[in-house]
Amino acid sequence: MLRKKKRSCLIVGGDHLQWNTHRDDIPRIRQLVREVSKEIIEGANGKLEIISQYSRMVPVIMVQKYFGLDGVDRKKMLEWSYWSQYDSFYNQHFDLNAEEKYECIEIEHKRCHKEFSEYIKSLIIRKLIEVKIKDRGRKVWVTLSNALRVKMGMEPRQLKDDIVKRMLGTSFVKQIGFPMQRLGANVGGLLVGSVETSSKVVAHVVDFFIKHPELLKKAKAAAVKEETAEIDSMVWEALRFEPVSPYLFRQLSKDYTFGRGSEREVTLPKGTTILTLIQSAMFDSRVYENPDEFNPERDWSHHLTYGLGEHECLGKQIGMAMIPEMVRQLIFRENLQAVSSLDYKDGPFPEEYHLLWNDSRINGCV
Ligand code: HEM
Repeated sequence: MLRKKKRSCLIVGGDHLQWNTHRDDIPRIRQLVREVSKEIIEGANGKLEIISQYSRMVPVIMVQKYFGLDGVDRKKMLEWSYWSQYDSFYNQHFDLNAEEKYECIEIEHKRCHKEFSEYIKSLIIRKLIEVKIKDRGRKVWVTLSNALRVKMGMEPRQLKDDIVKRMLGTSFVKQIGFPMQRLGANVGGLLVGSVETSSKVVAHVVDFFIKHPELLKKAKAAAVKEETAEIDSMVWEALRFEPVSPYLFRQLSKDYTFGRGSEREVTLPKGTTILTLIQSAMFDSRVYENPDEFNPERDWSHHLTYGLGEHECLGKQIGMAMIPEMVRQLIFRENLQAVSSLDYKDGPFPEEYHLLWNDSRINGCV
């Protein structure tokens, strides 16, 4: 049976706007990630199954606290995000899943989609009331009380905001074509884009360092420094070896000739699905000197870890802060070791990975 090609934001695209994260927010996002990560790790007494308790948990907390998808059980959010990612990105016709598995993933996604859509509708109504009514009243109060606070030499208070509220507080002229339905799809993308991607890459990087003890030693030394540039570069270089996916898929919007003029020239018709091999491209010796060598000094702007072009990851700037910080908070732990292999349990995402370390808290800047 020929399976239908699924529509996903990666194929149809053009649906997401990248206006909702202010770059000035990045330090505060990193701080949030740092605090949440520390709390989980230091509450674990030196032993943690990191996938369920850490690598999925930190991003989902960020989604609640920064993006503003709050007021719902975290386990539900994880379930919605999991089946949506699975069906949209790992249940395509070229994934060759057995018929029964293919259908089962689709059924779970449909069930979750219904629940998630209902949640988004109620979230939008709740936040709209806050933005249009409650926050206006609060603003008057905060402005007045801040005048007093400043006179008394105190820090002014900020109105609590989040990305969903920013979206709802932004108005577009009709011609832009950004109705509430599209806003809702963007809100959904904030959860679905965040969790499994982040969880997977954090697990990949930690596993990569543990399997390379010399690099682990260097990463530990970099992780305890207050300045994070060194550990960040090591994480980006590790992701060249272990990216979130070795390929991205695309559908041709018109007939296209590849390798024009060469002996491998081939023309593929509009509608053909192609796999762009991003991992292999990150080992292209025309772009990377000694590509097989681990070298954190590389210019990571060449990396394709977050894709490229029109569909480049919407959460890139956030991921650039969140992923290294999550790795950093784990990696410096004394005697860090894996007591299981990184287990995918036959699926596309890491599902279980047990780590152990000595729980002697270190003092210092991390
Ligand atoms: C931090 C929260 C994140 C959010 C909200 C997010 C959201 C998104 C969205 C909405 C898209 C689709 C863009 C489009 O089709 O126009 C996307 C694409 C993508 N994201 Fe993310 N993402 C996040 C984190 C990550 C992380 C941590 C990684 C991996 C390191 C990642 C890797 C990718 C890749 C490879 C693509 C496809 C890019 C392409 O097709 O060119 N994302 N992301």
